[in-house]
Amino acid sequence: MKTQIVSVDNLSTKEQGYTQAVDLLIVGETVAFPTETVYGLGAVATNERAVSKIFEAKGRPQDNPLIVHIGELEELESFTKNIPQIAKDCMDAFWPGPLTLILPLKPNSLAQNVSAGLDTVGVRMPEHPVALELLRRLKQPVAAPSANRSGKPSPTKATHVFHDLNGKIPLIVDGGATGIGLESTVLDVTSKVPTILRPGGITKEMLEKVIGQVNESKLTDHAEAPRAPGMKYAHYAPNAPVYLIENSKLTVRNAVEKIHSNSQKVVLIASEQYADIEVDHFFSLGKENQLQDAAHLLYEALRSCDETDADLVLVPVFLKEGVGTAIMNRLEKAANGNWFV
Ligand code: TXA
Ligand code: MG
Repeated sequence: MKTQIVSVDNLSTKEQGYTQAVDLLIVGETVAFPTETVYGLGAVATNERAVSKIFEAKGRPQDNPLIVHIGELEELESFTKNIPQIAKDCMDAFWPGPLTLILPLKPNSLAQNVSAGLDTVGVRMPEHPVALELLRRLKQPVAAPSANRSGKPSPTKATHVFHDLNGKIPLIVDGGATGIGLESTVLDVTSKVPTILRPGGITKEMLEKVIGQVNESKLTDHAEAPRAPGMKYAHYAPNAPVYLIENSKLTVRNAVEKIHSNSQKVVLIASEQYADIEVDHFFSLGKENQLQDAAHLLYEALRSCDETDADLVLVPVFLKEGVGTAIMNRLEKAANGNWFV
């Protein structure tokens, strides 16, 4: 299959881009499109065969449920039931936006493979103008995970999608680089106390201002059956092993010396205050303490590691505050718990 990229930022291809995307979705094909978090790979959520093409293209395990994207609140009625008041308050405050709500699923309303047999479904209304335009033209819920090969960092540019899925999907709608750069916050509102299953751009602090106490699930605890099934798989990892390291220039300098004395090559992914350390490759996460910038740049930096000859990747850690919680969640997964010592 030939994978086409069509820009909807370009006035001469915009209309054609949306029409082609909607037509493909209607006949049961998959289409990649930008959201404010990362690029998604969509299929009509009621079409089992179409949804199965997402799993095939990504190489995604079947037991990992997909997030359903909607363009209008009215669509919720067809596939959810008993929406708790807390969820409605979250929708008022954060939709459209990077918040996925786990809601009770109406039986037999969506394709079985969307929810992996669970009696709940993850739903969000994305804030990106291209995603919203596409969803509102289609007028149907769209199941869409991130548009990367399973296990790789999520795509924040159309070229990342092309790199991972070329030949496996018919169309990528190019709307430029995504904004936030990390996937949406996943909040389970079916539990007694609402629980964050995956941290993201909507932080615990922001949620608590609207709905009161919110728990965070211990996502890295492998002993416990994960409540967001996707969190148990290796994720966001470049080919070279990633090591977390203390946020200290002295510690990083010493580590780089040790690595070089073993004749190994190293990538450093860090904020600009680290740029003067002599490493083999440096990928910037923006200005010091600018967490939004770091989130925006992280996945591209992790992807860039695979274009180098480095033996290992070092990343100084961030404070787990605000968006730092989401950044560290992804980094801990990319590093699979490895610390440089
Ligand atoms: O920002 C995002 O959320 C992006 C864009 C494309 O919208 N999508 C995304 O989807 O990150 P995906 O499939 O890569 O991640 C979905 C996460 C997984 O960890 C999955 O296990 C969890 O949401 N999830 C989905 N449905 C669930 C459910 N019913 N119960 C618990 N977790 C669920
Ligand atoms: Mg993903």
